Amino acid sequence: MNQMEKEYGRLIDKAQQVRQFSYAPYSHYAVGACVLTEEGEVFTGCNVENVSYGLTMCAERVAIGTAVTAGFQNFKAIAIVGDELCRPCGACRQVLFEFGKDIIVIMADSKGNYEVTPIAELLPEAFVLEKGV
Ligand code: THU
Repeated sequence: MNQMEKEYGRLIDKAQQVRQFSYAPYSHYAVGACVLTEEGEVFTGCNVENVSYGLTMCAERVAIGTAVTAGFQNFKAIAIVGDELCRPCGACRQVLFEFGKDIIVIMADSKGNYEVTPIAELLPEAFVLEKGV
């Protein structure tokens, strides 16, 4: 196992651990995420559902929000773990893209199988503001 695979494994393990805290009484689909910052810090998140379904927060966005709240805004990679291999939803892809065009997305299932794809491939031709605001 090379260094990169070890790092992916570490992120997957942490994302898997945090799935236990998922609040998913509606879908019963627990998701965990673990984001790695450029500085080497890691932050986790789980999905938080709501009776008003559209208010549900995905695990990825909780993890990113937690990292940003702690003062980190540059990310190298994120692992996402569901019971089955979990790919980020469209909204989360745009949120990940916001914080790093080169973020590596590790999509895993609960048995440890995973796929790795850069965010730019998961969200081709992403929305950007060419001139800023
Ligand atoms: N979910 C995530 O947390 N991340 C994803 O990438 C896909 C979906 C959650 C939202 C909802 O609580 C449940 O999975 C089923 O859609």
